[in-house]
Amino acid sequence: MAEYEYETHEYDVVVVGAGGAGLRATLGMAEQGLRTACVTKVFPTRSHTVAAQGGIAASLSNMGPDHWQWHMYDTVKGSDWLGDTDAMEYLAREAPKAVYELEHYGVPFSRTEEGKIYQRPFGGHTTEFGEGPPVQRTCAAADRTGHAILHTLYGQSLKQKAEFYVEYFAIDLIMSEDGACQGVVCWKLDDGTMHVFNAKMVVLATGGYGRAFFSATSAHTCTGDGGGMVARAGLALQDMEFVQFHPTGIYGAGCLITEGARGEGGYLTNSEGERFMERYAPQYKDLAPRDYVSRSMTMEIREGRGVGKDKDHIHLNLSHLPAEALHERLPGISESARIFAGVDVTKEPIPVLPTVHYNMGGIPTNHWGEALNPTADDPNAVVPGLMAVGEAGCASVHGANRLGSNSLIDLVVFGRAAAIRAGKVVDAQAPNPELNKASVDAAFDRFDRLRNASGAVPTAELRLEMQKTMQADAAVFRTAKTMAEGVEKMTAIAAKLDDLHVTDRSLIWNSDLMETLELTNLMPNALATIAGAAARKESRGAHAHEDFPERDDKEWRKHTISRVDGTSVQLSYRPVVLDPLTTEAEGGISPEKIAPKARTF
Ligand code: FUM
Repeated sequence: MAEYEYETHEYDVVVVGAGGAGLRATLGMAEQGLRTACVTKVFPTRSHTVAAQGGIAASLSNMGPDHWQWHMYDTVKGSDWLGDTDAMEYLAREAPKAVYELEHYGVPFSRTEEGKIYQRPFGGHTTEFGEGPPVQRTCAAADRTGHAILHTLYGQSLKQKAEFYVEYFAIDLIMSEDGACQGVVCWKLDDGTMHVFNAKMVVLATGGYGRAFFSATSAHTCTGDGGGMVARAGLALQDMEFVQFHPTGIYGAGCLITEGARGEGGYLTNSEGERFMERYAPQYKDLAPRDYVSRSMTMEIREGRGVGKDKDHIHLNLSHLPAEALHERLPGISESARIFAGVDVTKEPIPVLPTVHYNMGGIPTNHWGEALNPTADDPNAVVPGLMAVGEAGCASVHGANRLGSNSLIDLVVFGRAAAIRAGKVVDAQAPNPELNKASVDAAFDRFDRLRNASGAVPTAELRLEMQKTMQADAAVFRTAKTMAEGVEKMTAIAAKLDDLHVTDRSLIWNSDLMETLELTNLMPNALATIAGAAARKESRGAHAHEDFPERDDKEWRKHTISRVDGTSVQLSYRPVVLDPLTTEAEGGISPEKIAPKARTF
């Protein structure tokens, strides 16, 4: 058994991760007087939310008529009818409140002439239950909305005396023998000390796992750490096959060019200079949802109408927009285009390509953020002591495809919901749980094994093999053949985790070891993704199965539950929640309005 000295910390709540969801949860918990710690592997304002550009969706009606029910309808349709109805209602209803709270906390939103929060159009956001014109629902701080939110929430959390443990890497959850979460074991990166956090509630806000793919808009820190810890604890992941490709990653570099660029009037063209989205989505054109636009771009490229010498990408045009508008509304992407594509957006189009951007799947939760461990008897069984919020969680509001700007609102609505719920279920007066020593020891043993790994495969080599396989076999379009090959290849790749070679054995700033721990988190996420995709014999949202091009609601309107143990993935299914939170009589949406139908734009 590995012997490591450690310091023990006791809190009511420990939040792991300091992006938008983690900070909103931290702030909400601390505001209620719960002793709250936020443990994060990067400095809070460097979390990936800082890169969120275009905005945050809420039906404020600042730019024209809007309604939370229209927002809910768009989210249901955007999800391709895989989202949980109660959670989608909660998101759309609570969104305006959550945004006004951000405003009052101090987020510097862009403003209209009358001083209201500025809102721009985004893909898939419409009026009149999908019958009317696009709506301006996405609240923006220029094209740096995530940056503005993150800095504000961090300042407010400090004001509420939340305690931050910065550059602490979470190794594993501490689980009691009867399946409750009791805390988390961490490694402090800058001095090599070990820390055990004992908590009545652990909130995983660790973000997505975009770095399981070769080309992603996600930061290099997006390594699915929460999903990895949950898988090792024998708990479930949900709907992992649904991976969003953002239509406009910069060709080659992968950096994000916000959908707000099309919201402000930008448009896509092929090698013939044609605005091809008019053919695929006659009503909403370039403002169709992301899965739709990404597939259309891929089809143009496949049919030989891509741009560039290899005809392998598409152009995003902004040069017709007034230079002042670009300067005021899109300064960040104008800079990114110059740095990463060598393009002056006032004169030339930006070369773009669909790029991995977001994971719709994650740790299953209810709409309070409580983690679920679904069983055949109880598909909604709650894991005591564990919550998951933000991209790490799956509430599920995005179902098979997320609408742009529904991510930032998901972070704050469900971060806030988790805090409200914790205020009810966490007893601040009760003593902390007595930790399960076996679970703590198991975390240190795993850490020590990896630290001393002396096999034949360097971490970077295995990571690249995984990324290239996922990029090729879990792509925008998928076939039974590519996915079956993907499962086979990924199983062999995951088996090589037992043959890793870590060169640096030290405990201080050991990036070799940290990247190895991250790889052990990415791998179960990647395995669940490819296995879930191969099993789902239909096309829905971001899962475009060429052998089964239609959505099949009779067989497949259900969530995929995966449990990953080493190289093996066990799949089962959980019903989609069909009942909204409120009935029509209570001011809710009518069931007919949100019944499944063909998804056209
Ligand atoms: O395009 C964007 O600005 C990204 C927003 C989002 O993913 O919600």
